[in-house]
Amino acid sequence: MERNKCIDAGREGCPCALAACGQCLVCAKLRGETCQACSWQGVCIDTLYAQNGRQVVLSRRQQQFPIQEIKKYSEDFKVFVLQADRGFCQKAQTAGAYVFVKAEEDANWYDAPISVLKAEPETGLLHLGICRCGPKSSRILEAEHDLWVRGVYYNALSGLGSLQENAAEAFVYAKGIAMAPLRNFLDGGARYRQWLQHLRIFADLDKVGFDFFRDYFGDIPAEAVEVRDFAKEGLCSLDDLDHMEESDSVNVFALTSPYYAQLVERAAGSQVVRPVEGNMCCGEGICGACTCTDETGHTIRRCKWKD
Ligand code: FES
Repeated sequence: MERNKCIDAGREGCPCALAACGQCLVCAKLRGETCQACSWQGVCIDTLYAQNGRQVVLSRRQQQFPIQEIKKYSEDFKVFVLQADRGFCQKAQTAGAYVFVKAEEDANWYDAPISVLKAEPETGLLHLGICRCGPKSSRILEAEHDLWVRGVYYNALSGLGSLQENAAEAFVYAKGIAMAPLRNFLDGGARYRQWLQHLRIFADLDKVGFDFFRDYFGDIPAEAVEVRDFAKEGLCSLDDLDHMEESDSVNVFALTSPYYAQLVERAAGSQVVRPVEGNMCCGEGICGACTCTDETGHTIRRCKWKD
């Protein structure tokens, strides 16, 4: 596994806390090695660090965003529409964007990583879908006036590097609120259109329901969408499965839980776009919650690592 890739390299907030502790994923010099070991083609991160007085660039502070609207689809699933600002929403309208969210009065350890459902730079509105799954989401679901938001972070999805430009087809398997990142692909214009030719969506509306799908994905032509219960009916028809496996010109997205993403990846026979596995907790490469160890014994921080 190549180690010198970081989702945040060259972005606002770089150099980050990993630079300060000599563990920048990209800059060999900041790790105490020589520039010969560096293949980074952007502005030298060590130089940026020096220019910033050898201090971390803190760009993702918590911000208090008023709640403009709460769309209640059920007791356990709501969409919060927040009044953010244009710049924030511009950054949030990126494939794989997510933010950390907590209710106003809660301690920082209630921060939960939430994929951006929809960002509207023109109005500064940010839409976040919250499904009840534990104490953090339960606390957010009770919020009425404001939410505290930290971001934007970009590593909610893995496999983006495997997408083929102008592939003949795109198959999207989407289940529950894990389908949230799809909206940013659809709203991203020319940046992402090349990956979504002849789109077909297999959607399991478990826990989110049809009203939510109509509100957020109702612009997708009906003939491109097949609503299914994955547990009872499978991911798609056997013909479609065969076609996906045999075609060498199809982009596959599994916007589902890891269980179904694994099934999709196995059926596709190659890497697909899917949520990053691992529990995002700090998002900064520090806490270790998202880490795994590769075959050479190196620790991979999945919140930072870009595949
Ligand atoms: S979420 Fe903390 S190290 Fe990745």
